[in-house]
Amino acid sequence: MDKITFDFKNRTALITGGAQGFGLDIAKRFLESGANVIIWDIDSKMLKKAIEDLNNPNLSSNIVDVSNFKEVESCIKNITKESNIDILINNAGITGPTAALWEYDVEMWKKVVDINLMGTFNCCKTVVPNMIKNNYGRIVNVASVAGKDGNANASAYSVGKAGAIGLTKSLGKELADKNIAVNAVTPAGAKTRILDQMTKEHVQRMLSKVPRGRFLEVEEFTSLVCWLSSEENTFSTAAVFDISGGRSTY
Ligand SMILES: NC(=O)c1ccc[n+]([C@@H]2O[C@H](COP(=O)([O-])OP(=O)(O)OC[C@H]3O[C@@H](n4cnc5c(N)ncnc54)[C@H](O)[C@@H]3O)[C@@H](O)[C@H]2O)c1
Repeated sequence: MDKITFDFKNRTALITGGAQGFGLDIAKRFLESGANVIIWDIDSKMLKKAIEDLNNPNLSSNIVDVSNFKEVESCIKNITKESNIDILINNAGITGPTAALWEYDVEMWKKVVDINLMGTFNCCKTVVPNMIKNNYGRIVNVASVAGKDGNANASAYSVGKAGAIGLTKSLGKELADKNIAVNAVTPAGAKTRILDQMTKEHVQRMLSKVPRGRFLEVEEFTSLVCWLSSEENTFSTAAVFDISGGRSTY
């Protein structure tokens, strides 16, 4: 199938969690479409590999923990000295362990919420002023069906993603009078490294709920993110776009 052509020339995109999985595929497609791309990740090895594999002068990277506000703020300050940030993809995330709420380790619970929700907040808080100044921005927050439906034995993850959905609805409305769109996407399971964090039974249970009867392909996900990040998305904002193969009915 031929891919739709997107035009991201003269656009700079920041993708968190860009060293692998969804983030890396989005980075590839943005680069093919003419964007300058910055990827952030905490996994320095994978980040180095991504830069070597993509080998593109329009790609750069930083080791940043999105849950650390000071780190995020200082890196955004440096980037915006040189360039605007037109597109922000809040994609960094972890599921944490598979465990019932009453058995969940307290520190781990906080960490999962911190990365999925506070990470999204930290990046939006520091990038949005630049978008306002420029009167242009496209933000896509990568949530999950878990944030809509709630997954058993994944309370921290479900809460973090539900929080990211709430944040999207609020922030989108705050910025609706500007040429800035803020949307969330809610994918079902795709075969990326994140699945290794969950038990096989949990992954199988997730898959059994998907009417399409298969995993989401990363390229299918990227395609939706591209449209939401493009200049052509002039109206949709503060919304949640489902890509769950029929699992979620709202
Ligand atoms: N793959 C799926 O089944 C699935 C389904 C629904 C939602 N998602 C969401 O999609 C996003 C991408 O996940 P993926 O499937 O590509 O997983 P992945 O594990 O392949 O990629 C996630 C990346 O985020 C990075 N990361 C983790 N914590 C970070 C932090 N604090 N700061 C910066 N980077 C950090 C990881 O090092 C990794 O490179 C996540 O938010 C995930 O919750 C994935």
